Amino acid sequence: MVKVDVHINYVHAQWSSRWVFVLAATGSAVGLGNIWKFPYMVGQGGGGAFVLVYLVCVVLIGIPIMMSEVLLGRRARRSPVNTMRILAHDEGASPAWQFVGWLGMATGFLILSFYSVVAGWTLAYVFRTAGGVFALQNPERIKALFGVFVTDPHTVLAWHTLFMVMTTIIVARGVQAGLEKAVKFMMPVLFILLLALVFYSMGSGGFDAAFKFLFKTDFSKLTPVVILGAMGQAFFSLSLGMGAILIYGSYLPQQSSIAGSTIMIVSADTVVALLAGLAVFPIVFANGLEPASGPSLIFETLPIAFGQMPGGVFWGTLFFVLLVFAAWTSAISLIEPAVAWLTETRGLGRMLSAVLTGGFAWLLGILTIMSFSDWAFSFRFLGVAKTNGFFDIFDLVTTNITLPLGGILIALFAGWKIQREHSREELQLRSHAGFQIWLFVTRFVSPVLVGMLLLYLLFGQYFNA
Ligand code: TRP
Repeated sequence: MVKVDVHINYVHAQWSSRWVFVLAATGSAVGLGNIWKFPYMVGQGGGGAFVLVYLVCVVLIGIPIMMSEVLLGRRARRSPVNTMRILAHDEGASPAWQFVGWLGMATGFLILSFYSVVAGWTLAYVFRTAGGVFALQNPERIKALFGVFVTDPHTVLAWHTLFMVMTTIIVARGVQAGLEKAVKFMMPVLFILLLALVFYSMGSGGFDAAFKFLFKTDFSKLTPVVILGAMGQAFFSLSLGMGAILIYGSYLPQQSSIAGSTIMIVSADTVVALLAGLAVFPIVFANGLEPASGPSLIFETLPIAFGQMPGGVFWGTLFFVLLVFAAWTSAISLIEPAVAWLTETRGLGRMLSAVLTGGFAWLLGILTIMSFSDWAFSFRFLGVAKTNGFFDIFDLVTTNITLPLGGILIALFAGWKIQREHSREELQLRSHAGFQIWLFVTRFVSPVLVGMLLLYLLFGQYFNA
């Protein structure tokens, strides 16, 4: 079977080694999703029940779908849209499969638009922490400071703009140039700092309560909304369902093991999320904060911890700097599929492609900024009150609908449309049983699980009556 499409003669670069791929994909996965979103989702989802479902989803849905994305990307070595188009052609499937790529690009813009706003909050907190704003302040005051900050659209816009410029520059220069080095250094340091923070939290007096909250499963809290949220969070945190991992896979050298790399990426992402929970919740409980307070959670808890810790100005600043880096290495993967598509099919240079995509996501971000101030509106989603307008809509639509939908289609395509000989050849699994397990889970388990939840989302209101 011919893998090369005659209409396209642009061929992308490759990572210099498999390790760089693992690092870049881990950089994409580990981000605000782990340290900002995971704790507040756990808080709103009632603790252990959410964590348990999350872990089940990571294993049964996350691992097979990540393998599928890498497999597809490496086989076609093109942007998600063209990867789906070329592979569908080669395998005799409908050209309509390229819809998955389009859905992914749209999803990437929506996510990046609010992701960059939150990353902008993080940038601002680097400077506020460094300036000693939080030193020895009481929890009430720290909470109030955040409230004043997010409701000031001009300030937030400036930080959002800065972050988007940073992201666009990296994407324009090419992911390989410069970024690899930064990730290599930053990811281990982030990990160590997180451990240090967990250590601090252990002494805060709230550790036992936090541990129970995270790991004691109260099955009465296991509502469909919590399950849906946990599944969406697994997609979000692992960067799955929109082609980010697919495009990174398309730069992966040919002989590298897909299964081994996937296990490493998934493990690192999961460990960082759990560590973030163990760092944040002790502070929540020791200071009488509200675990379900939502997106503001870490901007209230972490400054409290750093405000009281010896050397807190230094450690706090460093922590937010690293969080910015974690967000940065994730943000680039959100527009890389669109940039690769523009360079492939429109013949635009990386520079122009990056500016166009970054600019578009920047514009969309204004909706999120305004959702925390003048344009705030509230609505109900499956019976849960949401108060931050467009931010909540973009988050819910991507995390709960388009990422799982993209994921299910990727699994179905990789499992059913790609001939077995081809997927086996690409995955290069040493054991036959390993391949059979991947095929079974990808064909049946992940699509059925995700499909059931999506159906609930569509028709759930009729069960709740
Ligand atoms: N996974 C990243 C995080 O946890 C966010 C992210 C990057 C992402 N690329 C993605 C989410 C693609 C969904 C799809 O912060």
